[in-house]
Order: sequence, then C-alpha cells, then structure tokens
Amino acid sequence: MPTKPPAKRPVAKHSHGARPNRPSKPPPKPAGLAARDAVAACLTSILGRGRPLDDAFEAAITKAGLDQARDRAFARLVVMTVLRRKGELEAVVASFLEKPLPADTGRLRPILLSAAAQLLVLETPPHAAIGLAVDQCRGDPKARRFDRLTNAVLRKVASTGREVMATLDPIIANIPPWLLSRWNEAYGEATARGIAAASLAEAALDLSVKSDASAWAEKLGGHLLATGSVRLARAGAGRVEDLPGYADGAWWVQDAAAALPARLLGDVAGQRVADLCAAPGGKTAELASAGARITAVDQSPLRLRRLAENLARLKIEADVVEADVLSWAPGTTFDAVLLDAPCSATGTIRRHPDILHLRRKDDTAARVALQERMLASAARLVAPGGRLVYATCSLEPEEGETQIARFLAGRPEFSRLPVAPGEAGIDAAWITRDGDLRTLPSHLAAEAPGLSGLDGFYAARLEKHP
Ligand SMILES: C[S@@+](CC[C@H](N)C(=O)[O-])C[C@H]1O[C@@H](n2cnc3c(N)ncnc32)[C@H](O)[C@@H]1O
Repeated sequence: MPTKPPAKRPVAKHSHGARPNRPSKPPPKPAGLAARDAVAACLTSILGRGRPLDDAFEAAITKAGLDQARDRAFARLVVMTVLRRKGELEAVVASFLEKPLPADTGRLRPILLSAAAQLLVLETPPHAAIGLAVDQCRGDPKARRFDRLTNAVLRKVASTGREVMATLDPIIANIPPWLLSRWNEAYGEATARGIAAASLAEAALDLSVKSDASAWAEKLGGHLLATGSVRLARAGAGRVEDLPGYADGAWWVQDAAAALPARLLGDVAGQRVADLCAAPGGKTAELASAGARITAVDQSPLRLRRLAENLARLKIEADVVEADVLSWAPGTTFDAVLLDAPCSATGTIRRHPDILHLRRKDDTAARVALQERMLASAARLVAPGGRLVYATCSLEPEEGETQIARFLAGRPEFSRLPVAPGEAGIDAAWITRDGDLRTLPSHLAAEAPGLSGLDGFYAARLEKHP
C-alpha cells in the first residue's frame, strides 16, 4: 500500500531556542468521544453519587466542553435511555460476561451501559458505539485493562443482544420492585403496569400559552388539549429555544397535568394569591397571566434566579420572596394560596428517570412530615372564605390523598371543594371519589407516538370557612 509522506509540522518560534516545541494543551477530543465521556461522567455522578439528573448533566457537559447543540442532545438522549432502561441493559451485558465485573473498575460500567443503549435502543452504528467505548476505556486508568473485554462483550451485544432483551419484561427489569409494589397496592396491578409502562416512555413537549392557545397550536403544528395546553411530539421539535414564540415569551414549557392545580383556584383576576414553593415559576406564570396579584415564595436562591429569568422572558410581574415557607410571616392573608409541595416526584419519571435510581423505599416518611408542616403554614395564610390548593407531583397516596384526609380531619375550619368533571378540561377519570385531582402517566393515551401521557399529579382544593 502506498504511504503518504508525513505532514510537515509547523515549527513554533522560540526566542532563545532553549525549550522543546511542545503543545501546551492536549489536542481536543473528537466530538463523539467527548459526548460519550460526558455521558459516562453524568451517569457516574447520578448512579454513584446520587446527584440529580439536571445538575449532573449540566456539570458533565460543561466539563467536557460540549458546546454544540447536536452533541448535547445526543449525550442527553443516551443518559435518558440508560436511566430508563438500566435494568434491561444490565441484564443483556451480564449475559455476555463470564463472571461479574470486579468492584473498582472506574467508568467501565457506565461505558458498557451507554454503548449497549446505543446498540440496542438508539440504532447507533456498531463500529462507532463499540470503537468509541473501547477508546473511552483506554482513557480511564481503572477501566483500561478491560478494553479487550469491552470490545468482545459489545460485539456480542450488537449481534445477539436484542434476542436477550426480548426475553425480559421491561417493567420488571426497570422499575424498582418496592416502587412497583407500592403502585400495585395503591392502584391495582393493571393500572400499576400502565403507570410503569408510561413512566418509561418519553414525555411529549407541553406548552402553557399566555393567550390564544389554539392559534399557537396551529402555528407550532401541535395539538390543543382539552385542558388548554399545546402538545408537541418531543422528537422532531428541536431546541425549545428555537421554536416560534419562545423568545417573545408567548408560552412556557409545563406538563399539561402541572398546569391544572393553579387552574383549580378558579377566577383569580385581581385577587391576592400566594404561590408557595414557586420556583421555577410555571404556576406563578399561569396565575399572573390570569390576572392575579401574586406573591411567589421559594427558599432556593438558585431556583428563584430561574424563576426571575422565566418571568422576565414572559414579561410577567410578580412579587418574589426568598423565604422558608415554614417560617414566612408576611403579616397578611391571601384570597387564594397554592402550595406545590416538594415531594418524591414519582409522577415525573418520564422526564426525570433518575428518580428510579435515587429514591428509596424508606425516604417517604420525612417528606410526608415536611409536607404536613408546610400545609399547616399554608393554611394560616388563607383569608376567611379563601381557597387553598395543595398539590404534589407524586403518585404516592401518602403525599396526596392521605395527607389531605389527615389535614381535613384536624381542621374543621376547612372543607373540600370537589373538582367537577369538565372543569379546566379535566376528564372524569382524573378525579378521585372524594373529588380531588389525580392524574397518572398512563392517562391521555394518544394514537400517535410521542403524544401520550400526563405527569402524575395530585391536587386537592379546600375552602376556609368565612
Ligand atoms: C415542586 S417544586 C415547585 C415547582 C413550581 N411550583 C413550578 O410550578 O414551577 C418545589 C419547590 O419547593 C421549594 N421548597 C422546598 N422546601 C421549601 C421551603 N421550606 N420553603 C420554601 N420553598 C421550598 C424548592 O426550592 C422547589 O423550588
């Protein structure tokens, strides 16, 4: 084979000629490798150190210097796929290992899982997925000695991994047993399986629109839901920031179910409304757009910064207060109070599949106790004759139905204002026997792919007697 003459290297000038001509920085990694390194770093941070997805992803892409939107989108897709299907991917990889991997193997596990996700789910060409995984191993001092094993195992994953995967039940493989058995208990086995299957799917892109939702649905090629949200399929939507109306602040991203609790407060025009636990401001924007005089309270300065940015883009004004809801004492009461309490967020696994790996069976009790104290604080802020909506994005009854049953039992000055079918576009199937809102990820099934589902939300509407 003819060989090319080696390319001449430019020679740097040195004034004294004493130092060798060495590049000061290593050459940049090819984008494909940098993106995959960011994936491995992000997964290590979530699965190994318990860091939440959004923080871990932001840190990993910044460190890897991924500045192209395409590379970031690819990295995000691989991370999401591994988090959603980790059980299946692990089982396929394990089926081709002669013995379990030892404990201290650096980034080997995330490298194998993300390559398997590319090969089995994302249709990445095998030469790219396998070659770059082997390069990644060689770049990690602890994983280096497994480069040949990685190559051999991934070749088998590429050739016969799909057959192994077809023998697995994705729900049993990917949903932690304790969580599935809680859902079985709360909703019955068939509904629990529906919730689990929907939780493993990608969520649609839902927008809350300031005004004229049907015109925006048409302009964006989306569907206008009965609840007033505009729904687009996430795949093919591109970057949210590039969609028409984003820069002008015509709409904001918010799941269709997340848009409902604020709507339960009814006509808030001109009323004094406290939005407790408000950041990043989805519900604040809704209430302010509906004409409320709103005070948005949250204790997280970082999240309040996002709230301020969101409101500025939407050209919406609100009084924003950085405070702990448990001790906030504004010296006044409100016509309406919305408490969107921090919770296990098990209703949002479609968008935050890290929840599958970060929540533990026994961490609900502390959250329930905090919500109970927050409810007591929120109740004090409601004026006589005013309304209180308590909401969580959890599927766990302890954080919803049971919490409110206990509250009402000890608070004769409050009673429930049941949600009526059709109100705010709410389907009768989303209302509990007691009249509270209970959406499930398996609700709103659509024929078209990528357009189904709702976040799992609970909301109760209460009234303080005059
Ligand atoms: C479910 S999120 C709120 C989402 C928000 N309502 C929206 O629609 O965009 C829960 C929020 O509660 C805040 N939070 C948690 N504990 C709090 C406390 N003790 N006081 C005030 N805010 C708190 C968190 O910072 C977080 O922003």
